[in-house]
Amino acid sequence: MDKLVVTGGARLAGEVTISGAKNAALPILCASLLSAEPLRLTNVPALNDIGTMLKLLAQMGVKVERAGAEVTLNAGALSNPVAPYELVKTMRASILVLGPLVARCGEASVSLPGGCAIGARPVDQHIKGLQSMGAEVGVEHGYVVAKVGRLKGARLFTDMVTVTGTENLMMAACLADGETVIENAAREPEVVDLAQCLISMGAQISGAGTDLIRIRGVEKLRAASHRIMPDRIETGTFLCAAAITGGEIRLLGTSTGYLDAVVDKLLDAGCEITGEKTAKQESIHIIAPPRLKAVSIRTAPYPAFPTDMQAQFMAINAVADGTAVIRETIFENRFMHAVEMQRLGADIKIDGNTAVMKGVEKLQGATVMATDLRASASLVVAGLVAEGETHIERIYHLDRGYANIEAKLNALGANIKRERA
Ligand code: EPZ
Repeated sequence: MDKLVVTGGARLAGEVTISGAKNAALPILCASLLSAEPLRLTNVPALNDIGTMLKLLAQMGVKVERAGAEVTLNAGALSNPVAPYELVKTMRASILVLGPLVARCGEASVSLPGGCAIGARPVDQHIKGLQSMGAEVGVEHGYVVAKVGRLKGARLFTDMVTVTGTENLMMAACLADGETVIENAAREPEVVDLAQCLISMGAQISGAGTDLIRIRGVEKLRAASHRIMPDRIETGTFLCAAAITGGEIRLLGTSTGYLDAVVDKLLDAGCEITGEKTAKQESIHIIAPPRLKAVSIRTAPYPAFPTDMQAQFMAINAVADGTAVIRETIFENRFMHAVEMQRLGADIKIDGNTAVMKGVEKLQGATVMATDLRASASLVVAGLVAEGETHIERIYHLDRGYANIEAKLNALGANIKRERA
């Protein structure tokens, strides 16, 4: 398995272009299943998860054409409404084909995603919502099996805020008979980006971005084009990389608009951050102080502090002045990066879903292991300032969600080598 060797010490400087958002692209690729006409997407990120999703859709009969960041999908001749375990086990977001398949084909057989490092990740809310819309949904031999003539509009309430749950049910409702209301809906920007794509396909949706989304079902959807929004978590990750190294960088093709909670915390830590807009594009300019102030965070659904940025803030707090408390409220096991950071010399005490950190003068490079996507990113961020070399193993996690992160960081002055094992 590949590993990254990060040599610490560089102060990042220069410009980086942010890619399209993984967590917007994945549901939007699945939205192509709802229509018999082509869906043309631009700004699609070059990530392993995107490749996996395209493979999954192609084996269902979707015609896929890809040229760089442009992807055109045509689900005119769906032949196989099945998402097999071999593909689903490598990418949990495959569950996002369930809603569209049931809505379009009246049936679906989708392997249960199973848990992952950060938690059990059940999909009971996805199932409950489809059942409320009239589908017969059961679990047979590890597969979610669903059948229905035509889904009926319903009033849905999810027990907790679920991003892909909201996305699955919103997509299913687009072709249902009548109106669907989703209460306690996720408000993430990626849900809004999906809704905008569906509306351009002819769906009738209002309220996306609020906790109450209304969808009036239509008979069919039409051809459309959509540009994927910028990746706010990649944006936040590069802001943290600049912050921890006392650097000054410009992030192109992205904006602070989707990251207020993260930007506020970086301002509290002592950074200067400004959003810029030219005729060509939006960008963010960050200037970091030589040493950050520790900042406490508590993760929660959007617009609060995103759980996908928690690990990166554990890295910056490791070498900041003072004590910080990190509270993870979304996933039950999202502190695995903490033990790896302790190997680098971080002072972290874990108690359940709370981590108490005391900034140290310096981290020392060591060999560490990536356990999940954002944990891997946090170890790269920590490695940028650790003394000597940090060897990060199992970086296949990283490649799932970051398009050639080492090339982008090296262009900003970092010293990172990828070693093929
Ligand atoms: C999405 O996962 C993201 N993935 C995650 O990003 C992100 O961390 C998460 O939302 C929270 O923001 C994609 O969008 C592809 P949830 P999702 O359903 O939808 C519980 C990354 O790093 N729950 O919002 O799977 C669940 O266990 C990934 O890019 C149920 O109990 O998360 C969790 O505790 C990691 N039953 C909480 O709700 C359900 O049916 C929120 O999960 C659904 C969820």
